[in-house]
Amino acid sequence: MTHPTKKKALYIEGPSPRAFPKSEGSSGRGTVARMSAPRAPARDNPPLAQGQYLLGEAEIERERLGRQHELWRAQVLEGWARAGFAAGMRVIDVGAGPGHATADLASLVGPAGSVTAVERSSESIDDLRRRFAGSATPIRVEQVDLMTDAIPVDAGLHDASWCRWVAMFVPDIDCLVARIAAALKPGGVAVFHEYANYRTYGLLPHSAEVEEFVTRAVRGLEACGGTVNAAGPVVTALARHGFTIEHLRLLPTIARPHEPFWQWPSGFIRIFAPRLVSLGLWDDASVSKLLATIDRAEQDGTSAFIGPLNCSIIARLDPR
Ligand SMILES: C[S@@+](CC[C@H](N)C(=O)[O-])C[C@H]1O[C@@H](n2cnc3c(N)ncnc32)[C@H](O)[C@@H]1O
Repeated sequence: MTHPTKKKALYIEGPSPRAFPKSEGSSGRGTVARMSAPRAPARDNPPLAQGQYLLGEAEIERERLGRQHELWRAQVLEGWARAGFAAGMRVIDVGAGPGHATADLASLVGPAGSVTAVERSSESIDDLRRRFAGSATPIRVEQVDLMTDAIPVDAGLHDASWCRWVAMFVPDIDCLVARIAAALKPGGVAVFHEYANYRTYGLLPHSAEVEEFVTRAVRGLEACGGTVNAAGPVVTALARHGFTIEHLRLLPTIARPHEPFWQWPSGFIRIFAPRLVSLGLWDDASVSKLLATIDRAEQDGTSAFIGPLNCSIIARLDPR
């Protein structure tokens, strides 16, 4: 596993369900949280400006995140249970997006606990504030860019953190993990879901068009400074910041067209392939061919989609 170099920030995202139209801061635990993380020089001609979301901030994307959460919810709840998330805990949702996991965390910890939802995007912050106003469980919504700022409340007091598909978008995974370390109490637990191997994403029988899509998607993310296979670098950073890994589990997915999980990889292609064209990262003719391949696969009923290989990581902060 290699430690990622610090790179320019951006944000794209993993596969989605189909709701879409068819055709170093490694100076020790907590230290980085109190200083600005250094930024690497921008790469030449990244497809997006810094801080821009590669899939956009439109309603369709927020819906996509919601459907994606529904598909993954069982595995998420299982991971939280294994990590010991319980009523009365103070938990952080790191990179909360519009708050789909935040809502489940709030139900789990109940009114005796609290959730700190940390997010950079203004649109998501608005969603979070609207959604959780008057919540029975105290939910603090904090607009924070974790590459430059610490988690601003209850430093060293949180019992647990949840962070999914955020490390893959940040230019400095080590800094992200240091922020989480500084926010947790000794013995606190951190749970991550990140990709271990994005290249498993593909159609059975093999499709060259889907393979090319995956290549372009990875290139688009990495051109803007992300690390698609973030699970390895997260594990490395956790060890560096005083965590002991308690549990690692791969979460493979394979689904046929009539099964709900089919919508995760196929839906992501339907929204992200046209987006690659609009960003100048692919061409119309290739995307039309790709979408026709997905349509055919859905009709023939004998194909299956393998999703990018996700990984669950549970780590506990050592006593200081
Ligand atoms: C793929 S979404 C995941 C949202 C949520 N964790 C989920 O699983 O539904 C990634 C989220 O990370 C946030 N994010 C990316 N970089 C960030 C940063 N530097 N600081 C804070 N949030 C960031 C994005 O704004 C986005 O909401």
